[in-house]
Amino acid sequence: MQIFREIEPLKAFLVEKRRSGQTIGFVPTMGALHAGHLSLIQASKEANTLTVCSIYVNPAQFNNPADLQKYPRTFETDTELLKKAECDVLFSPDTQDMYELENSIRFDFGHLDKVMEGMFRPGHFSGVAMVVSKLLHIVEPDHAYFGQKDWQQFAIVRQLVRELKFNVKLKSVPTMREADGLAMSSRNIRLTPHQRKHAIVLHQALTEACTLLKSGSTITQVKESVQHMVECDPEIKLEYFEAADSENLKLLNSVEESTRPILCMAALVGEVRLIDNMFLSR
Ligand code: PAJ
Repeated sequence: MQIFREIEPLKAFLVEKRRSGQTIGFVPTMGALHAGHLSLIQASKEANTLTVCSIYVNPAQFNNPADLQKYPRTFETDTELLKKAECDVLFSPDTQDMYELENSIRFDFGHLDKVMEGMFRPGHFSGVAMVVSKLLHIVEPDHAYFGQKDWQQFAIVRQLVRELKFNVKLKSVPTMREADGLAMSSRNIRLTPHQRKHAIVLHQALTEACTLLKSGSTITQVKESVQHMVECDPEIKLEYFEAADSENLKLLNSVEESTRPILCMAALVGEVRLIDNMFLSR
């Protein structure tokens, strides 16, 4: 695996690869890699001849300085995992290179970045859009891979790519879960053993919500029961639970309002903020 720390050498390397007919798959990450990230690498390897993974903890998308500071950084292990997964290229730039100028551009995605994560993490998606734009310009991939776990992020990146005419096809990859259902996340390692055990309530609540909605309960009733389920443990606090249209993220009052509804939630487990979602199949 080739490792690049700087933008220009990576660009020169990729120009050559493109010239020789390689197709480039790109997996942007913030490191602390787990099997979820590796499933994106796998998806890229299946459809491209060259896979590039980036590891960059992007300060612009952290609305909470403590979260940025505590974000796990495990570069050595990450490199080993990527080598084992047979990733071809790792790009891990530093902030001086990525943000040469003061970050002065702000993105506004209208409704898409006002709801759910956008409501609780002001500025977060502007920071995501900024770094994803930079990375797409640098790597110029044929395909870029994102996890369903961050569905709102996927919807926003999709909008970004459409609006700014990036020449890339986006792919969403299903959420990888631990055996008990907890969605894999780099933040899970910050949970205490007690919190880790109880964090499965997010997945349980989503599963239960799907069952209730399919058997005719209203979204209001389901929200109440989710709140009740999640907050049985005093260490867990629900931030939001919403049913939304998965295309435009309009919040639903009834699941009949959408052809493909998705249920999304966020909760604080102790100090660790976790998100998860589930499509409502009908
Ligand atoms: P990060 O949280 O490291 O996630 C990188 C990619 O892995 C994202 O597309 C995310 O949705 C996906 N992912 C995370 N957990 C997953 C799981 N359990 N199963 C499948 N995929 C999963 O998302 C970011 O980084 C950043 O916002 C980034 C896009 C890199 C921009 O900085």
